[in-house]
Amino acid sequence: MRILAIDTSCDETAAAVTDGRKVLAQALYSQVTTHKQWGGVVPSLARRAHEERIDGIIAQTIKKYNIAIGNKDLTSYNGIDYLAVTYGPGLAIALEVGMKKAQELALKHNKQIIPVNHMEGHIYSCFVQNRNANPKREFSFPYLALLISGAHTEIVLVTDHITYKVLGETRDDAAGEALDKAARMLGFGYPGGPTLERLAKQIDNSDTYKFPRPMIGSKDLAFSFSGLKTSFLYFLRQMPEDEKLSHLKELSSSFQEAVFDTLKRKLTRAIDTTGVNNIIVGGGVAANKRLRYILRAMIKTKKGSIYFPVYSYLTGDNAAMIGVVASYKAEKGMICSPADLPDRVPRLTLG
Ligand code: KG4
Ligand code: ZN
Repeated sequence: MRILAIDTSCDETAAAVTDGRKVLAQALYSQVTTHKQWGGVVPSLARRAHEERIDGIIAQTIKKYNIAIGNKDLTSYNGIDYLAVTYGPGLAIALEVGMKKAQELALKHNKQIIPVNHMEGHIYSCFVQNRNANPKREFSFPYLALLISGAHTEIVLVTDHITYKVLGETRDDAAGEALDKAARMLGFGYPGGPTLERLAKQIDNSDTYKFPRPMIGSKDLAFSFSGLKTSFLYFLRQMPEDEKLSHLKELSSSFQEAVFDTLKRKLTRAIDTTGVNNIIVGGGVAANKRLRYILRAMIKTKKGSIYFPVYSYLTGDNAAMIGVVASYKAEKGMICSPADLPDRVPRLTLG
């Protein structure tokens, strides 16, 4: 089943053509340089950039698709069965751009649409394959999915295809957002996660300052990172400027350790309470090698398995993961006509 998928939920303009779990073609425009100077994503700028880029990104994707299948007409939609589009969660005015485009293309090419939740995309990102069907990993439900991005931090029980139950989520900041804010306090630009990772690695991820691990005492699976952020801010305020500047690596590393240790402990609790030790990790923060190491070491003690997205573009936002989810939704008949596409849902939840 071939699907043209579109995602404009945040700051990447993304399109892909997928065939089941395989990606036949994909293109992506990252707006990171647009938002960098503002220290975070500015919705009105995101919308404008999506509007400017979306036609070009889709044309590039369709061209690559036709080359991949050996078709001479590089603009042809032949062989594409459905459109798929993210309808939430995300920035309302950004989501609208992709949804309007999907509707327009579906009408023009006489196709139906599969609406997709962006977070189910991050769950399925671990199972996206290249054209040679790699990685070979097969589905083996149930899973616990740890979804960690700039806007979300949640643990989701996945009992079957498209069957989710959110076990816990953040009450305030997301893990990626906390990393971004800490990096900003240290004077670094957006996104901060990769900068903290790089600096921490230079001192072997040492935990010099041992910042608090928020909510690890609570029995539930909820997260909260705003207290950690505040204690980091107060800590920096009482530190002489020259000492701060000479300890940027220690500060970066200790903050990163506090966030990752919290994620590890909550995930461990989720494994213990559900008995499920089959883990999926998705979202921008899943790119972090230190986090991968910590979680792999933890899962060994639980005799379980852990899966991360294999291709680097799949940890961040992309449309390939949306296309892959959509094929499973189509099998369940979760399809609509262009006129029946639901309204965008900026705070859409799973299950
Ligand atoms: O999934 P994503 O690309 O966008 C959202 O849907 O939010 O996630 C972006 C987040 C940002 O907070 C960014 O700092 C974080 O992912 N991130 C990382 C790394 N790469 C991106 N955090 C830690 N280490 C990284 N290598
Ligand atoms: Zn995302």
